[in-house]
Amino acid sequence: MISNLFTPGVLGPLDLRNRSIRSAAFEGMSPDHLVSDDLIAYHRSVAAGGVGMTTVAYAAVSQSGLSFDHQLWIRQEAVPGMRRLTHAVHREGAAAAIQIGHCGLMAKKSVSGGVCLAPSGKFNLYGPTWPRAMKREEIRSVVTDFGKAVHLAREAGFDAVEVHAGHGYLISQFLSPYTNSRKDDYGGSFENRSRFMLEVIREVTAAAGKELAVVVKMNLRDGFSGGMEMDESVQVASLLEAEGVHGLVLSGGFVSKAPMYVMRGRMPVGVMADSLTKDRWMKPALKYFGNLLMKPEPFSEGYFLEDALQIRKVVNLPLIYVGGLVSLEKIDEVLSRGFEFIQIARALINDPAFINKLKSGEITRSACQHSNYCIAVMYSGKMKCFQHEENLTEKWRNRRTSGDQRTSGPAKTSGQAD
Ligand SMILES: Cc1cc2nc3c(=O)[nH]c(=O)nc-3n(C[C@H](O)[C@H](O)[C@H](O)COP(=O)(O)O)c2cc1C
Ligand code: SF4
Repeated sequence: MISNLFTPGVLGPLDLRNRSIRSAAFEGMSPDHLVSDDLIAYHRSVAAGGVGMTTVAYAAVSQSGLSFDHQLWIRQEAVPGMRRLTHAVHREGAAAAIQIGHCGLMAKKSVSGGVCLAPSGKFNLYGPTWPRAMKREEIRSVVTDFGKAVHLAREAGFDAVEVHAGHGYLISQFLSPYTNSRKDDYGGSFENRSRFMLEVIREVTAAAGKELAVVVKMNLRDGFSGGMEMDESVQVASLLEAEGVHGLVLSGGFVSKAPMYVMRGRMPVGVMADSLTKDRWMKPALKYFGNLLMKPEPFSEGYFLEDALQIRKVVNLPLIYVGGLVSLEKIDEVLSRGFEFIQIARALINDPAFINKLKSGEITRSACQHSNYCIAVMYSGKMKCFQHEENLTEKWRNRRTSGDQRTSGPAKTSGQAD
């Protein structure tokens, strides 16, 4: 039987050649916050590897929304590079999307223009930052920035924008009762906490016009007690459908509280500490307390599926499943249970040709071991699978040869590091 994965699909105004989308996974390939040749080559390789669409990750809509040195910032100066990227992707037969967002309390002051904005001024240990509660005019200004970013993405030839409303970034910080303790009409009730998201989405859909697809990446759950749960995420999905967005990417987790809920497994904290070359004092803290801060979460294939099915019951728009897809069997199951598209991050970091290899029958499962090494090194600006890394420690070399699949074993405690 031919897999549904390889059949064409419709996402708003877009026809995609198949049901696979490269999920937004931060590349760290944007020195000076501009598109580099490496970024273009990477997305070209993913497009050539067979995906229906590839997504450029985590582009900031304004300087205040930047949290990394090598992060793309959408502005007029960036458009020529963005255009070269979309051309390269289109030449390989895939569509190009760009994820747009604002990091809010995860801002790195040295790149964000000295500011760190959030719904409320609550200390964030994970920055570490002490953000300032946004004034109403700042809220309006960021909403407008989203619209401007969409106009520039259109000018650069993108086919879709993905609004990042999950993972504990600014929109998600407004939605979550954990980070939003405002007393005005942007805080308190669910209606108030979702106001900022709706204002952004209205700005984005107006700017997108008829030819650009608009998808939203949202949380099913924030992943900790006191965060957003399913009772509110079903309402978020319904609100977004009513606004006319073309698809929802269903994820979960919160970078400043439950980061491993997004990817599952455990973070190789030693590798992460070593990659944070500029933040010297953080190295020992991470090595010793990293697994306490980034509590490991058990991995299972398709770990968001049961929660995502709850959303399927309440909306009719196309749903895009993401989270732990590593085999054709699970992809087929997801597509047969009411999801129109699937997104994949790590299996494509492991091998950009994953989709073509599934199609040809060369493989049925990714070699990705969900080790999360690629995330740990992301902070040094070189997103890479450890299986393709040349300079590995002995421990990781052994892991490569042994195919160690440790993913949900007992959590390491402080004092131990990879
Ligand atoms: C290296 C890396 C970077 C990521 N960066 C982002 C990001 O910038 N934006 C985002 O929404 N998700 C990001 N993610 C999460 C992925 O998009 C995806 O939701 C998650 O990895 C689960 O999918 P997977 O099991 O196919 O990897 C990242 C994941 C990885 C592995
Ligand atoms: S480093 Fe490689 S094996 Fe580990 S999660 Fe990333 S892609 Fe998978």
